[in-house]
Amino acid sequence: MNQAQLRPEAVAATRQAGLSPPLPQIPADIFDPAHYAPVRRSLLEAETLPAWCYISEAFYRREVEQIFLKVWNFVGRADRIPSPGDYVAFDFVGVPVVLLRDKQGEVRAFVNTCRHRGTQIMSGEGNCAALRCPYHSWTYGLDGRLRGAPGMEDTVGFDKSDYALQPIRIDSWDGFLFINFDPDSIGLREYLGDLPERFACYNFADMVCVRRKEYDLACNWKVYVENAMESYHVPTVHGLTLQKQKRDINPPIAANGEYCGLYTRHIGSRALLAGDTGFPYIPTLTGEATEGTFYPLIFPSTMFALTYDCMWWLEIHPRGPSHMKLIVGSCFPRSTVERGDFDEVLAKYVRRWDQSIPEDNDISERQQLGLASPFTAPGRFSALEPLVHVIDNWVLDRVIGPAR
Ligand code: FES
Repeated sequence: MNQAQLRPEAVAATRQAGLSPPLPQIPADIFDPAHYAPVRRSLLEAETLPAWCYISEAFYRREVEQIFLKVWNFVGRADRIPSPGDYVAFDFVGVPVVLLRDKQGEVRAFVNTCRHRGTQIMSGEGNCAALRCPYHSWTYGLDGRLRGAPGMEDTVGFDKSDYALQPIRIDSWDGFLFINFDPDSIGLREYLGDLPERFACYNFADMVCVRRKEYDLACNWKVYVENAMESYHVPTVHGLTLQKQKRDINPPIAANGEYCGLYTRHIGSRALLAGDTGFPYIPTLTGEATEGTFYPLIFPSTMFALTYDCMWWLEIHPRGPSHMKLIVGSCFPRSTVERGDFDEVLAKYVRRWDQSIPEDNDISERQQLGLASPFTAPGRFSALEPLVHVIDNWVLDRVIGPAR
């Protein structure tokens, strides 16, 4: 009997006997397109992704190679490192990265790995005049060049200019920073397509990031993205919070770029709980932005919420098939942040985020627990989940290859 045929009683007996529970069944030919044909059908005829796509180390590795090491990945706002020497260090899909602002005021990104014997150089965040490796004190300038390498004087043919930090491509759009590990990829503007122009009226360049909160979650990155891009779950998961806000659900927006998105028409900021009042609206809004909220997903894993008075983002750093880091950032117009009552009114927005985001976190971790079962089989989509289907097929296009 294979694991997929074990009945629940058998699993319970196995656990009672102190044995390891059965593992989910993952086929050896996991990248055979035939496994994914049901996902390729149109939305209301399609099946959901096989559960192994959310738990398999091999599938995750292929996602890292074919997606995250090739695309523009969002890594926060430039105002997190406002002054020369400011830096932040973090891991992104297993690559230690350091972002910093150099002496000329330019933001740079480097692989945060010493060119001597590979030690991670910087950790956390702060300000520095140079990057000094904590192992043998090789020291790099803010331009990445190796400045000092004590004890290397007798090493034959050693030339410091050959051992600069490895640069990572970095670009920005209105204060949002993106990195790309692939030197041959298209540029950020081409990647984003018409997104910057479409949302220009939010005047992001004049916004200030006022809050940044991190969560470590025990779920696959796709679980969280899928949840963020469908409102089917809102009455159930957010029944006591967001569901009390009234809204019209619209079809997905048409996108010309590596993004997709939702739009809902409603009255009142979506960053507040029902009944709360907040800050004045962004004065430059036009068109549909004056009547509702946009929720674009920049593929693969960056979600923005653009509402009347502010924007917030969900930034995902995958950390393996069953783990991820979520970073939630919140930005308001500079004129709002300069108000005397800013901190007092901001507390209402924080209350909304601190209630609704843990609701999404909890349901995502619960879904991951279910997906890891040896008995989980593909399900079907509702008409209320069109973007889950779009996202899953976007991933398959890159991990398995284009649909035939
Ligand atoms: Fe960095 Fe030796 S590993 S100085």
